[in-house]
Amino acid sequence: MKKDNSFTVIVLAAGRGERVGGNTKKQFIPVCGRPLLYYSLRTISDSSASAIIIVTSAEDVEYVRNEIVDRYSFSRVKAIVKGGAERYYSVYEGLKSVDTPYVLVHDGARACVSVELVEAVALAATEYGACEAAVPATDTIKLSDEEGFVSLTPARKDVWAMQTPQGFESDLIREAYERLFLSGDLDDITDDAMVVQRAFPDRRIRLVEGSYDNIKVTTPKDILLVETMIKSE
Ligand code: CTP
Ligand code: MG
Repeated sequence: MKKDNSFTVIVLAAGRGERVGGNTKKQFIPVCGRPLLYYSLRTISDSSASAIIIVTSAEDVEYVRNEIVDRYSFSRVKAIVKGGAERYYSVYEGLKSVDTPYVLVHDGARACVSVELVEAVALAATEYGACEAAVPATDTIKLSDEEGFVSLTPARKDVWAMQTPQGFESDLIREAYERLFLSGDLDDITDDAMVVQRAFPDRRIRLVEGSYDNIKVTTPKDILLVETMIKSE
C-alpha cells in the first residue's frame, strides 16, 4: 500500500503584532488591497496541502471566516481555532485539529512564502520526521554573555536564520509539545523545531533552504518590503 504522506498546514495568526503597532494587527493590514494573511493562505492553497487550520484570536475568528476564508473561497481551510497567549500555545491549539500524518506550521506573518518551499518542507518532513526552513546568516552572529560582552563567534557557515514553514510527523510534534507543557520549561521557546529538540535531544532536525524573500513582517518597514515584493509578482 502507498504511504500516506498527506499534510495539514497550521497558519498562525493569533499574535498581537506589538512591534508593528497601530490599530490593525499586522496579519490583517491591507497590502495591495487584501489582508496580509490572505497571501500565505493563497500560496498554501496552491500547494498539495490537504488541509489548512488557521489559528487566530477569539475576537478575530468571525472576521477571518467572513472576510478572508469565505470571501476568497479558501476551501481547504477546515478549521479556524482560537489561539493562546504565546505562540507555542497557539501551535498546540492548532495541532488538536490535525488528522493527517504530517503537519507544517507556518507564521501567517510570512506572506511571501512560495509553493516550492511549502513542498520542499513537506517532503523533508516525510523523509526526516522533523525539519525547518532556514537561510544561511548573512551577518556574522555573536553570542553574548550576561554583561553584554562577546562570548562566542560561531563560524558563519554554520549559522542559519530560522523561518517557517517547519514540518513534522504529527505524532512527533504533538508528543513534543505535551512533554514541553509537562516539563513546564517554557523559557525562550520561539520555534517548533526547538520543542522537538528539547523533548527528543537525539532527533535530527533537517534544515531546508528557505528564501531571503520569506521574511516575517515584524516592524512597520517590513510591510513596505512585502508590498514591494507582492507588487512585483
Ligand atoms: N502568533 C500566534 N499566537 C501568539 C503569538 C504569535 O499565533 N500568541 C503568531 C503571529 O500571529 C505570527 C507568528 O506567530 O504569525 C510569529 O509571531 P510574531 O512575529 O512574534 O508575531 P506577534 O507575536 O503578533 O508580534 P509581536 O511579537 O511584535 O507582538
Ligand atoms: Mg510575538
